[in-house]
Amino acid sequence: MTDARLVVAGAVVDPATRRLLLAQRRYPPEVAGLWELPGGKVEAGESPEAALRRELREELDVEVRVGSALAERVALRDDLTLIALRAQIVAGTPRPADHEALRWVDTVGLGEFARDGLLVPADAVWVPELLTELGG
Ligand code: C5P
Repeated sequence: MTDARLVVAGAVVDPATRRLLLAQRRYPPEVAGLWELPGGKVEAGESPEAALRRELREELDVEVRVGSALAERVALRDDLTLIALRAQIVAGTPRPADHEALRWVDTVGLGEFARDGLLVPADAVWVPELLTELGG
């Protein structure tokens, strides 16, 4: 029996505009076209914070400062647990290396993505907390 592996996603917020960064997936087919908090799998021996910095460097070409975790953890298939960490960009402008597109959303935009079923299913759990955070 091995421990569940972690997938870490970034709740990347721009404090100046109070917007959250969403990224549109290209694969796999079940979620292609849907939008997520960008991130990826934590490697063996790597902290979740370091993994998020690495993933966002690879996927978005930005450097981030990583903060605290959102409250919800999500059990994915295949023995994977998904968590989200707050993050702020400290260098660079995000450009999509692996994603189809990127979008900065405010509370209205995030609410619309959620309402229209455009978020990857697992990430929908964070919407209430993110709406509070962006709006508060
Ligand atoms: O991005 P990657 O393919 O490495 O993600 C690993 C798993 O975590 C996939 O099953 C993906 O759908 C899921 N995931 C998710 N929400 C995210 C990031 C990844 O459900 N924000």
